[in-house]
Parts: sequence; structure tokens; C-alpha cells
Amino acid sequence: MVIRTGYNNRVPIGGNDQKGIRNGIVNGIRQNQEHEHGKPMWCADQSPYPEVVVETPNKFYAQLLMEDHAGLVSETSAIMQYLYHHNVLKEDYPDVAELLECISMVEMTHMELLAEAIIKLGGKPKFGTKTTQGILWWRGDFIYYGTGICDMLVADIQGEKGAIAQYQKHIDAIDDKHIKKLLYRIINDEKEHIKYLTEKVNKYCKKK
Ligand SMILES: [Fe+2]
Ligand SMILES: [Fe+2]
Repeated sequence: MVIRTGYNNRVPIGGNDQKGIRNGIVNGIRQNQEHEHGKPMWCADQSPYPEVVVETPNKFYAQLLMEDHAGLVSETSAIMQYLYHHNVLKEDYPDVAELLECISMVEMTHMELLAEAIIKLGGKPKFGTKTTQGILWWRGDFIYYGTGICDMLVADIQGEKGAIAQYQKHIDAIDDKHIKKLLYRIINDEKEHIKYLTEKVNKYCKKK
């Protein structure tokens, strides 16, 4: 189901109309993206994602969302941590690896939604956050690598809880109903992730 309506769905006109061809390519790509955003993955909340709109550009709100985009506790960190855990657990725990891959793809959707919001707020979704000492660029040591399935899963759950707390803080700080709605929708996915990850902890990490 496609619910995002901000994009142009015109069918391209062929021939020598270069602008038509270019628009067609762009629209084709965007329609695929719409499909991905519109239909949540199996490991996500099944309600549709809201259209990314903002009440008015606001650089401060963009900065707050950049923390969620690529700060220490962020979608970028989550994607990389889940991908690493997916790769190292794939051979021995294929069901866990499959879940982690699915979750990392949901986090990528979150990252893309945040990037769109940051742009509409007047910012640039670079992979860093502003601090008093300058820009803190995203780094590979922001994530928890771990040694075994159980400490990895526990860290993944902690990461989700940290993300929810940070989103809640930003919901409280941002006076824009559209962004609040987007962040609440993202939180719903993070809650689903905690549920699925806890199932795996119960399966593999509880003493019998
Ligand atoms: Fe996320
Ligand atoms: Fe998550």
C-alpha cells in the first residue's frame, strides 16, 4: 500500500524528451522507495509510515534529528551494529541473523525518514552531529561489537531502549506536530524490535 503522497506519479513521455526521460527515471526510483516506506517489514510495526512534512523549517530541530540520524545513539549506529551481529551470527544462529538483518533494514528506513525531515527543516543529513567542540563525525567505535550471541542481543535491546528514550526527549523538545508523529511512529518500530529480540534472548540465553 502506498500512503506517501508527496511524490509525482506521472508516467514519463518517451522519445527525445530528455526532461521527460529524466523525470521518468527519478519517478521510477521514487515509486520504489514509496513502496518500501509504505509497506513495513515483517519485523516492524505494521501501521503505515506518515508522510514526511514539517510545519516550518527549523535548524535547531534539524540538529536534534541529526543526533537520531548519526549521533552516538542513532539509526546509523543501529544499522551498523545489527549488520555486524547479523554477519557473525549467521552461521550458528540463522534465525537470529535473519531477524537482525530485517531490523537493520527497518533502521535504514528510519534513517531515510529522518534524512528527509532534516532536509525539510533546512539541514543536511551528514553523518555527524554538532557539538561545542565542532562536528563529531560518526565512527565505528560508536557500536557494541560483543563476543557472543547473548551479550550481543542484550546490547541490541539496550540500544533500542536508548533510542526510544532519546526519541521521547526529542518529542518533548520539538513543537512540530508532524515531526512528533514521525518520531512516535519510529518508536513503535523500536518497541517491536525489543519484543522480537527478547524472544531470541528467551530462546538462547535463559538457563534451563
Ligand atoms: Fe530505528
Ligand atoms: Fe530498532
